[in-house]
Amino acid sequence: MTRQTSRTRLPAQARREGREESRPPELGPGDVDVSLTVDGTARTVRVEPRVSLLDALRERMGVTGPKKGCDQGACGACTVMVDGRRVLGCLTLAVTCEGREVTTVEGLADGDRLHPVQEAFIANDAFQCGYCTPGQVVSAVALLEEGHTGDDAEIAEWMSGNICRCAAYPNIRAAIRQVRDTHEGRAADTVGTVGAAGAAETAGPGAASDAAAAHAGGFAAAPGPDSVGPADQADPARHQGGPSDRPGPSGADGSDRPRPEGGR
Ligand code: FES
Ligand code: FES
Repeated sequence: MTRQTSRTRLPAQARREGREESRPPELGPGDVDVSLTVDGTARTVRVEPRVSLLDALRERMGVTGPKKGCDQGACGACTVMVDGRRVLGCLTLAVTCEGREVTTVEGLADGDRLHPVQEAFIANDAFQCGYCTPGQVVSAVALLEEGHTGDDAEIAEWMSGNICRCAAYPNIRAAIRQVRDTHEGRAADTVGTVGAAGAAETAGPGAASDAAAAHAGGFAAAPGPDSVGPADQADPARHQGGPSDRPGPSGADGSDRPRPEGGR
């Protein structure tokens, strides 16, 4: 079969007007170079076009903060931000991140100083096993920036794409409320404004660094959803499992279901 040319694929109107359609170059099927910024560092990774952002980060770039839970957009463990908007790494193709800025949980801290949301998670004991925590933290940072923190119901709604199998939801919400009330919900403007002593006072001496170290792959090794493409697709409104996709919190943390004791 003859390969389709750009001319044969021109939309009818463009063809009638005799002008070339502007379209991005085709990628693949072989490996392609993708240049992007990850946690402030310019990176280039060579991947097949089918490789997810999550796999590119974890398997090709050694950025293991974002976790793989379900690999199908259901749990939120892989949540990262692309150009400041939360997306699901497992449903985002790495090639769509060309020229984009990716922020993982590993990029939230300012050196040794944790992000206020990280501090608040520690202070409020907002995790148990910690596996969901990198996604929860990134999602919470974006949530605070989006301003969806009016009350617990709104927080639960807009965090509904991040599942916690340990049911730490009350503590996660408490952490988010703490940052909201302390920093008026502008998490992105508050990086580093909460000193380590803040968490230490609550969680005990050295708690921040200890907890960070204890959560390798969580806060320390890592510091949050959407899907396929970051440009116009990496929109929190398209966050798989997020509030815009669902009429309300649903899935394992669904408030539309009977709530387990200690759950949401
Ligand atoms: S790994 Fe579960 S949503 Fe991506
Ligand atoms: S802390 Fe264990 S899954 Fe959330």
